[in-house]
Amino acid sequence: MISQPRAGKSIGRFALSEKTLLSIKNLKKVFPLQGEELVALGSVSFDVYPGEFVTIVGPSGCGKTTLLKIIAGLLPKSEGEIHVDEAMFDPTREVGFVFQKALLLNWRRVLDNVLLPIEILKLDKKKYRSKAMEMLELVGLKGFENAYPNELSGGMQQRVSLARALIHDPKLILMDEPFGALDAITREKMNLELQRIWSESKKTIIFITHEINEAVFLSDRVVVMSARPSRMVGAVDIDFPRPRKLEVRTTPQFGEYAVKLYKMLEIT
Ligand SMILES: Nc1ncnc2c1ncn2[C@@H]1O[C@H](COP(=O)(O)OP(=O)(O)OP(=O)(O)O)[C@@H](O)[C@H]1O
Ligand SMILES: [Mg+2]
Repeated sequence: MISQPRAGKSIGRFALSEKTLLSIKNLKKVFPLQGEELVALGSVSFDVYPGEFVTIVGPSGCGKTTLLKIIAGLLPKSEGEIHVDEAMFDPTREVGFVFQKALLLNWRRVLDNVLLPIEILKLDKKKYRSKAMEMLELVGLKGFENAYPNELSGGMQQRVSLARALIHDPKLILMDEPFGALDAITREKMNLELQRIWSESKKTIIFITHEINEAVFLSDRVVVMSARPSRMVGAVDIDFPRPRKLEVRTTPQFGEYAVKLYKMLEIT
């Protein structure tokens, strides 16, 4: 799928008539901390459009994981709004989460790990067996369905967790630094694989990474968060056509996107 490049430069630039899958306005999260309050999310606003690949970057501790958990319904918000277009998707059943660590159950075979959301959603496991096999094929793990997680490499485990996030056909996939623990070569392969899976399965993805190059390579749009109390400081549309090859990283345009993001992050 080639997502349409969007006109304009800043967050909030989209025409009001364009339908959002998810719209977040002035989201705030405060954690109690030793008798005081820690403002994890100051005031976060951003929109996500159906089929988009959006990446969030920001300094460590600025609240990226907190934001994803609130979107997934794993944490309550303190203030603000999350508007979901329920005609497009059901936020209680159609969200997939890929955590920073694969978090597989070591005593279950790969296939049964992939089927975990089906059990949680109380769906018929037998019906989803062939779907689970399909998902394993999609992530390049055909033939490993009966292996145990500790018989797989880190990259393979992360792919199992991606298959698990896809099994119940979620519309929205939330990915929290999923490739952070992988070596550079495996990470590049996973980037290519993720691009392929995203375009074949036509999902909407919100992705978190610390790697600017990974963000530029994968995304339609990269959104930058400030340090705590966090807010969105800007966004960059990435207008390379799809499918992208790794060589795109050597183009001057790629470098310009990266510099823009580094500047927003005040790293330069
Ligand atoms: N359950 C919690 N209770 C109290 N404070 C929390 C909790 N979860 C997160 N925090 C605090 O909220 C802030 C944001 O944490 P979060 O994990 O969302 O950051 P992050 O942007 O994902 O960081 P990193 O890039 O290092 O993963 C941190 O200061 C953290 O200490
Ligand atoms: Mg985090």
